[in-house]
Amino acid sequence: MDGQYRALWLNDNGDLEVIDQRYLPFEKRMRVLKTANDACEAIKDMTVRGAGVIGNVAAFGVYLAAREFADDKQKITQVALNIRSARPTAVNLMWAVDNMLEVIKHSDDMVSDCKAEAIRQTDEDVRRTQAIGNIGADIIESIMAAKKLKQFHILTHCNAGWLAIVDSGSALAPIYEAQKRGIDIHVWVDETRPRNQGARLTAWELQDAGINHTIIPDNTGGLLMQQGKVDMVITGADRVALNGDAANKIGTYLKALAAKDNGVPFYIALPINTFDFDCESGVRDIEIEQRSEDEVHVMSGMDKQGHTQNIRITPEGSVAANYGFDVTPARLITGLITEKGVIEPNKEAIGQLQ
Ligand code: MRU
Repeated sequence: MDGQYRALWLNDNGDLEVIDQRYLPFEKRMRVLKTANDACEAIKDMTVRGAGVIGNVAAFGVYLAAREFADDKQKITQVALNIRSARPTAVNLMWAVDNMLEVIKHSDDMVSDCKAEAIRQTDEDVRRTQAIGNIGADIIESIMAAKKLKQFHILTHCNAGWLAIVDSGSALAPIYEAQKRGIDIHVWVDETRPRNQGARLTAWELQDAGINHTIIPDNTGGLLMQQGKVDMVITGADRVALNGDAANKIGTYLKALAAKDNGVPFYIALPINTFDFDCESGVRDIEIEQRSEDEVHVMSGMDKQGHTQNIRITPEGSVAANYGFDVTPARLITGLITEKGVIEPNKEAIGQLQ
């Protein structure tokens, strides 16, 4: 984003530096990743998260492996495969590593070629998100014109901003572009339990950009839609199948159901590398990450003294389930906003993008 850090960059030593998202919004802390293992850990422990940025860090992680293991192709490949399995749902991770492996296969200078490929992939994401922003903002303008609106209310779930995908985000890209166009926009931000990526990260991004927003508990969206207070829902995606089913942060599916019931347009914004063309049916086949139940039992926040505190909010001994994602069936999705235009969520339209 203009005037901001990017979510990741190479520092003067050639190490990868990232914003450590675990400390936001309370502290803007950086973390230096010097080795492939550091990159893998940063993906696993959610120092970095969001489909696009996970893919970028994975690609640079393979570059770091090339730097560490010089000309040992076999070792670098083995490390790359390890990074590839760091998280299961976001397909950008697999896409990024597979492209790096292809480069390695044909390379005589792996350090330089891997670095170039990781930079190329990341720069490509920047262009993709800019295009998504423009196309999404056009949709906002056309809904406003059709409904003769002076102010536009948009609801989003989780964080699909510049922290999640460089440099403008996917779901937030049209919002940033709308702001540039002078549109009076207001964003309902789902808090997104259990890790609160909406309340912590999306709200932080929007506040930083001076965009009018309101944080809401995750179960508020249905009421707001019934009351006509939402003109459009837009979320990102972690993987979209050939049939248009879309995996995104847990809770997205319920928003799509409420949107359908209330005639609110429900869009998913994603770059082309978030499609999984090998996955025929998302609801049937996309693997859903299950995370530690501690994320449900324990809330983290800042106390009055400015110290981060973790507090338990559930009875000792109760069991919690923590599914990271759900899959919204294609029939509930109005359109898929990509850098190549708005795609219908079906096999015919998505298949043509391959
Ligand atoms: O578990 P996370 O925070 O990595 O979840 C991924 C996401 O940020 C979301 O699902 C997002 O809406 C899509 S990522 C561009």
